[in-house]
Amino acid sequence: MLQDQITQYTAEINSFDTTSAEELEQFRIRFLGTKGIIKDIFDEFKAVSPEEKRTLGKVLNEFKQLAEAKYQSLNESIADSGIKTEDSKLDMTLPGEGFEVGARHPLALVRREIIEIFNKLGFSVAEGPEIEDDWHNFSALNFPEEHPARDMQDTFFIQKGGEKGDIALRTHTSSVQVRMMEAGQPPFRALMPGRVYRNEAISARAHCFFHQVEGLYVDENVSFADLKQTLFYFVQELYGEGTKVRFRPSYFPFTEPSAEMDISCTICKGAGCQMCKYSGWVEILGCGMVDPNVLENCGIDSKKYSGFAFGMGIERIANLKFEIKDLRLFSENDVRFLKQYKTAII
Ligand code: DAH
Repeated sequence: MLQDQITQYTAEINSFDTTSAEELEQFRIRFLGTKGIIKDIFDEFKAVSPEEKRTLGKVLNEFKQLAEAKYQSLNESIADSGIKTEDSKLDMTLPGEGFEVGARHPLALVRREIIEIFNKLGFSVAEGPEIEDDWHNFSALNFPEEHPARDMQDTFFIQKGGEKGDIALRTHTSSVQVRMMEAGQPPFRALMPGRVYRNEAISARAHCFFHQVEGLYVDENVSFADLKQTLFYFVQELYGEGTKVRFRPSYFPFTEPSAEMDISCTICKGAGCQMCKYSGWVEILGCGMVDPNVLENCGIDSKKYSGFAFGMGIERIANLKFEIKDLRLFSENDVRFLKQYKTAII
């Protein structure tokens, strides 16, 4: 009788298979548990005749070992596969997911192109911090205290009236000019690209952060003619031969004289369109001869040295190349937008 039961359970154990931890646990309880089948059979075994015990004892031990071995091997294979529950969604036969290929950002492309052009004229690249003190962002650049020119730029202040004066997010890359001039003596010939911040409501035409490239050239006998020729060359390289330039008198505290430079509209070639508001011209940068006060503020002899500076917005330059109407697109990082842009220099 006991032998028949063992034969039947042996067949059951041999055919048992599962990948489910729950099913395996049920198996363990059914056969190996403290109230399980093996315990019952051992209890019954106590009552059999001594002759039977001799043969049945061995069979019974083998039966117990079979159940334990089965449990152990299934337990290991479940742990190995990482499949813990029956309703696991892991399907190893599914094809893998591909990697989305990104694209260079149009602003990075344009910044690189600007740098490459000025490299040919011997300009190196320098950078400065985005969190600036009042001295570097304003005072050294000849913005007097309480002067309305400070209101031209809506500043994000981080700390008002600290030890080093106000601390703010830089409103322009002109602050890097100051750092560069303070750190050494002329000649300086550098481009300073970077992100700048202004407290403006975000819209298609304005953003609270954007990018500029500052240029600085200081040496003996640098003249306004050098400034004009440098910028003229830059525009021909960037927008193509025949692009016209014009300079309009302007005001910046840190340059004297100051000018704004327009180029003939790159979209309509001067015929008149929405981009140039039907004037045929678009403004691309501010520039001028470095004010002697700024040179002196930075420890440079303004009797011996003169220089020019200019600053342009990279978004504006990119707009005129790619006609991107909404500034917000630049910071959304949508690869469908980014993928559309290429420049000569990749
Ligand atoms: N810093 C100015 C701005 O953010 C741009 C500028 C104008 C920079 C004239 C210059 C300059 O270096 O000479 O509006």
